[in-house]
Amino acid sequence: MKNQQLSEFNKNQRPLFHLTPEKGWMNDPNGFSRYDGKYHLFYQAYPDGLNWGPIRWGHAVSEDLIRWERLPYALMPDRDYDSGGCFSGTALTFEDGRHMLMYTGCRPDPEDTLGRGLQVQCVAFGDGTTYEKYDGNPVITGDMLPEGGDPYEFRDPKIWREEDGAFRAVIASYNRTHGAQILLYRSNDGLNWEFVNVLADGEGKPGWMWECPDIFPLDGRHVLLAGSMGEVDSICRIGEFDDEQGLFRESSWQSTEQGFDFYAGQTVLTPDGRRILIGWMQNPRTAECREIDLPINGQMSIPRELQIRDGKLLQKPVKELNGYRTDEVVYRNVKFDGVEQKLDGIRGRTVDMELQIRPDEGETYELFRMRFAEGGEHYTEFTYEPESSVATLDRSHAGPGKTDLVKARAAVRDRCGKLDIRILLDRLSAEIFINDGEQVMSAVIYTDRHAEDITFYVKGTAVMDIAKYRIKENK
Ligand code: FRU
Repeated sequence: MKNQQLSEFNKNQRPLFHLTPEKGWMNDPNGFSRYDGKYHLFYQAYPDGLNWGPIRWGHAVSEDLIRWERLPYALMPDRDYDSGGCFSGTALTFEDGRHMLMYTGCRPDPEDTLGRGLQVQCVAFGDGTTYEKYDGNPVITGDMLPEGGDPYEFRDPKIWREEDGAFRAVIASYNRTHGAQILLYRSNDGLNWEFVNVLADGEGKPGWMWECPDIFPLDGRHVLLAGSMGEVDSICRIGEFDDEQGLFRESSWQSTEQGFDFYAGQTVLTPDGRRILIGWMQNPRTAECREIDLPINGQMSIPRELQIRDGKLLQKPVKELNGYRTDEVVYRNVKFDGVEQKLDGIRGRTVDMELQIRPDEGETYELFRMRFAEGGEHYTEFTYEPESSVATLDRSHAGPGKTDLVKARAAVRDRCGKLDIRILLDRLSAEIFINDGEQVMSAVIYTDRHAEDITFYVKGTAVMDIAKYRIKENK
């Protein structure tokens, strides 16, 4: 990779407020935690290529979840048990004050006809900058799987401590008889583990394997998140964690993402008690296929603040982003009736914009359409049709980085034609939060950076309020 290309990219094209790898490939967030007064976010990284390769842990820290500083790589695939990669995992503060990472080591197995590696769970300790692998690794192996468990598909430990002081971990696994399973393990010291129970299985939901589980209390309930493989989806189950029985009792489930690009989400608790979710802003099915002429492939989502309302998960960009807003442009009661319109000051590719669309005095409209990252023949389009209450995100005209995943639809709660959206644009992406975060649609777009126009169109008559901000580099 030429330095020239990297510096040009850094200046003009690199996402401004989304974490990206310095160069090369990035996938899942790992070890999202608070340690020593800062947020730590590790990530699956392969700097030597634009596609997945022997994976290591990248590392970044932040004071506010928006501006990140990259640190040296934290874990390299340098042991026999992780020579095929240091796969995903999580982090917590150990009782002696050290930062503890738990991850999956993958060791290639020449005997496996599918070319897979054996997956074991390992730990490492550090001071927030450098990390050392525990001499007793691995701490959980394929011998500790329940019957039918597949040691080649056994990964992504989420570790936490319960009130009794003991450690718990949930680990993703494929079971030859039962399909996707999330397994629960327990340990008194974080190093010696025992299998407790199958916490949850696929129960007819999409995917043959559920990767990267996270489980946490939220608003009096428990949430279990996972990424499903096969039919790629990010799944959120709401229910109760029964620690005594080692079971998750689900009362409802939903998809976490209605757009294209969000996977392997992980959460952290802020000091003021907010539960924040971050994900890999890519679709694992297409992440490696898109033809791009850039020095990086991968970025994180905006951190999303979670809440449960009426039994459903709500997601909103973290409030810290508001501190980076500048150049406010506000319009109230703008009437749209059948003519395509641009509005003064409403454009850009590092944007935070809130819109409310509503019918004009009892009249209804047929369609609302917003095109953004628009220039020449390229644009990405968000539409909403009140009659069916369906929102659509269409990136088929976004230009470079073609993919077959171009149209996504979301069934939106019917509010008699009223729709609130918040859209974040950050050079290579768009994230659209619908109706207070009831749904989120995310899209990575590789449209030329000069395509900055935003155009609105309403079929019928509607009225709109707009507040638009540019996101600046520093607070
Ligand atoms: C999810 C995943 C994880 C695994 C990691 C490897 O994207 O497949 O299950 O640990 O990526 O990079």
